[in-house]
Amino acid sequence: MDRIRIKGGKPLKGEIPISGAKNAALPLMAACLLTDKKLTLINAPWLADVGFMSELLRSFGVETSYVRGPGFGEGGRLDLTARNIVNTTADYDLVRKMRASFLVLGPLLARFGQAKVSLPGGCAIGARPVDLHLRAMQALGADIQLEEGYVLASAKGGLTGALVDFPLVSVGATENALMAATLARGKSVIDNAAREPEIVDLGRCLSAMGARISGLGTSCIEIEGVEALHGTQHAVLPDRIETGTYAMAAAICGGDIELTGTSADLIGAVIPLLAATGTAAVSTNLGISVRRNGVRPTAADVSTEPFPGFPTDLQAQFMAVVATAEGRSHIKETIFENRFMHVPELLRMGADIQVQGDTAIIQGVEYLKGAPVMATDLRGSSSLVLAGLAAEGETIINRVYHLDRGFECLEEKLSAAGAEIERLKE
Ligand code: EPZ
Repeated sequence: MDRIRIKGGKPLKGEIPISGAKNAALPLMAACLLTDKKLTLINAPWLADVGFMSELLRSFGVETSYVRGPGFGEGGRLDLTARNIVNTTADYDLVRKMRASFLVLGPLLARFGQAKVSLPGGCAIGARPVDLHLRAMQALGADIQLEEGYVLASAKGGLTGALVDFPLVSVGATENALMAATLARGKSVIDNAAREPEIVDLGRCLSAMGARISGLGTSCIEIEGVEALHGTQHAVLPDRIETGTYAMAAAICGGDIELTGTSADLIGAVIPLLAATGTAAVSTNLGISVRRNGVRPTAADVSTEPFPGFPTDLQAQFMAVVATAEGRSHIKETIFENRFMHVPELLRMGADIQVQGDTAIIQGVEYLKGAPVMATDLRGSSSLVLAGLAAEGETIINRVYHLDRGFECLEEKLSAAGAEIERLKE
């Protein structure tokens, strides 16, 4: 298994290009199942999760082709054609590797009137049930049975437009409902919809494929079903979590970097928080400039929220930043019940953190110290990279495959900005 070695203590300088968003690319890929015409995604990131989703789509008979961009961080082109679908079963082995696989349920059901999708099971950050996805499909007229770990969904005469009213905000369930409703008969309304930029991006792509959608980016999305969708070419939204992660890298290391190919409105809740720690982030023509001088960051409190609030996917990274701050910070995790797995690893690097229920209390220390560490999820691993970049001495990050799921060319991008970071291949 590959590892990453970091020699910490260097300020960052230069440009970091931001890739297309993993969490936009995955639902966009599932959307190819809604049409027999070609869907082309440009600015598509080269990530392990994109590979898993391609594998799943190929198991249905989708033709896939990925051509990498010319340089690191320059997005690739992904062509997907779901013309000859030979199978509508998403196997356990593929779904358990990546929960986002469950996003094929809505499109398969809408276009083929049937789908058999493995239940994903729990994962490291929480139980993550799929009841809201199933509730949405039932509202649209599907019959749902659970058998031997699989969801058996059918809608023989097709789906019917309806009110899908979510009791809590779910990104994935909103995406599944939105995709399914595009081909349902009549009008659907998704109430208490998630408002994440990735949902707006999906909705824009579906609209370019011929779907009739209004209310994107609000908590009430309306969809007028159409008979069929067609192909299109769509550019994947920049990754706001990668953007926020590198902005926080500048916050913890100090320095002056420009994040290119992204925009400040994607991290609206992050910018004032960075400012509170003493890091300035401002829009530029190319993206965002992030700067912090040599003084230690200042402590700040935050609570994770659905968009437009502070994202849970940046909670671990922000914890690394305030671990070295002057003063005491509080971070409350409201989305997932077990998303503090990076804490014991940060403690091994000399951080002073106590977890009380859903809140971590972080007393900033002057220096973190390099150590061998590992995390059990993607964003937690990236917080250890940030801690390693700022720490005295050497940090070895184990289980790099977590990082490969969501950060394209991580070592190349950080090295180009002056960090001493390399991958140890095994
Ligand atoms: C998406 O997951 C992201 N994944 C996650 O990113 C992100 O952390 C999360 O949204 C929250 O922003 C993708 O977009 C592929 P949810 P998702 O449904 O859709 C509960 C990363 O690191 N819930 O919005 O699975 C759930 O347990 C990943 O890139 C139900 O109770 O998240 C959670 O507590 C990790 N029943 C809350 O809702 C359901 O049927 C929000 O989850 C569905 C969800």
